[in-house]
Amino acid sequence: MSKPFDVLVIGGGPGGYIAAIRAAQLGFAVACCESNPYADPKGEPRLGGTCLNVGCIPSKALLHTSHLFEEAGHSFAEQGIEVGAPSIDVAKMLARKDAIVKQLTGGIKSLFKKNKVSLLNGHGAFVARTGAPGKELWQIKVGDALYEAKQVIVATGSKPRHLAGVPVDNEIVCDNVGALAINAVPKKLAVIGAGVIGLEMGSVWRRLGAEVTILEALPEFLGVADSDVAKEAAKVFAKQGLKIVTGISIGDVKVSQKGVAIDYTDKDGNELKLDADRLIVSIGRIPNTDGLQADTVGLQINDRGQIVVDAHCRTNLPGVWAIGDVVQGPMLAHKAMEEGVMVAEIIAGQAGHCNFETIPWVIYTSPEIAWVGKTEQQLKAEGVAYKVGKIPFAANGRALGMGDPTGFVKMLACAKTDRVLGVHIIGANASELISEGAVAMEFSASSEDLARICHAHPTLSEVVHEAALACDKRPLHF
Ligand code: FAD
Ligand code: NAI
Repeated sequence: MSKPFDVLVIGGGPGGYIAAIRAAQLGFAVACCESNPYADPKGEPRLGGTCLNVGCIPSKALLHTSHLFEEAGHSFAEQGIEVGAPSIDVAKMLARKDAIVKQLTGGIKSLFKKNKVSLLNGHGAFVARTGAPGKELWQIKVGDALYEAKQVIVATGSKPRHLAGVPVDNEIVCDNVGALAINAVPKKLAVIGAGVIGLEMGSVWRRLGAEVTILEALPEFLGVADSDVAKEAAKVFAKQGLKIVTGISIGDVKVSQKGVAIDYTDKDGNELKLDADRLIVSIGRIPNTDGLQADTVGLQINDRGQIVVDAHCRTNLPGVWAIGDVVQGPMLAHKAMEEGVMVAEIIAGQAGHCNFETIPWVIYTSPEIAWVGKTEQQLKAEGVAYKVGKIPFAANGRALGMGDPTGFVKMLACAKTDRVLGVHIIGANASELISEGAVAMEFSASSEDLARICHAHPTLSEVVHEAALACDKRPLHF
């Protein structure tokens, strides 16, 4: 057996690879094992997890291409650019996406080399805790080899939840893996679940010409977002031709080589059928503890399948930590990374910290949707007195110049202290604009603080500025 590692990370996604790099920066001997379900054709280990291989990065590449395609077809002419009807080479679009993934996953490997993180290629599983009191080590099996480590960070991520009785072949019935590799624009695409993946992937294929219908079980659309934002989004998506049916219940799903027939009941009890060439199932993700042998060592897992941790990602076992999608909290790459840094720093005796109140959310549709902090409905439910500043992009010169004046910025501030409690944006570049809200909240800023900061003109960020002014009923351009 090789010399024990100080830290062994199980899983090389955004949580795991960041934890490994940060721990190595702090001077520890670190290894990270990765079971590589996305191994490339040469059998090379692929780091980056769901995010880089079959999540954040490839989806954003397809969203970008399909956005340009839609712009070329619908918006160029308004600005006097005549290009005729665009056509899409799906194979080329997918190849570009795959090249980006390859570049980034390779980049993590280089970072491991630079930081002297040992990459162990194989599935990690707990074996035992050994050693004299005070000198205990965890034994971890990776593939056929046995390793020892003082500290173990579990970062095994999540996997897609599938519909009972509807096997995913990633040809006709796709989860996120197949949805990112559809090799021709389907004439009709059905999506089950109007959450983040459903909206993003539905947008990609709608923009490229598919007739997309999204079936959602909950009666309310996008209930996690501020209700004003959800209402605006529903309006805009409907106008774009994205059909979203809420309050449904899925019945039989019949799959043939030609396509899929979905029986469902609508909110009024009508029994309906949806025929489509392909189906994307995006009904949430479940924590992944497959083959970890958690039972062998008594690692506690709750009834939602999450490894149980405290606010600092400590599990019930000494020296064992868990981060990212496999634990509580939003399943977001940046949240996993924050936890990775926090745990590495705590192991090093530092004051690691992760503020769940300021984790931004982004949905990369067009318009983009982004928020940080509390929604108006949450503040109401909590009985917090608040002020609202809401400004549309239609009043902003930059948005008009870009031909993208849809949406608004809505700021929520405490009625007593003026502290910013939430920022909600639907509009162009919301994904970038939301950082101002996160920074403000992290520094406990008031809306007055933001109102007093000079914002460059003409920029979309002026709408954030105006929303801050509007909290005090003194917007200057609206
Ligand atoms: P993962 O990324 O799932 O990584 C876990 C890794 O551990 C995997 O590589 C797996 O192979 C490995 N592993 C598992 N078990 C073992 C084992 N026993 N031994 C060795 N290795 C193991 N989030 C965002 O913030 N922004 C986005 O835009 C975004 N877009 C997304 C789009 C899609 C289509 C999907 C599916 C997800 C998206 N997410 C997005 C969510 C994001 O991908 C996850 O939150 C993030 O990847 C979680 O990181 P993680 O490190 O916890 O887990
Ligand atoms: P989700 O939780 O966002 O949405 C799932 C939707 O499916 C919900 O609206 C739910 O009500 C619905 N649903 C559940 N069961 C259903 C059923 N039987 N019939 C019909 N509808 C049903 O999950 P999704 O979209 O699968 O994404 C998983 C996670 O991945 C997200 O929660 C998010 O954490 C992450 N992600 C993040 C992205 C981003 O940050 N931009 C992009 C994509 C994914």
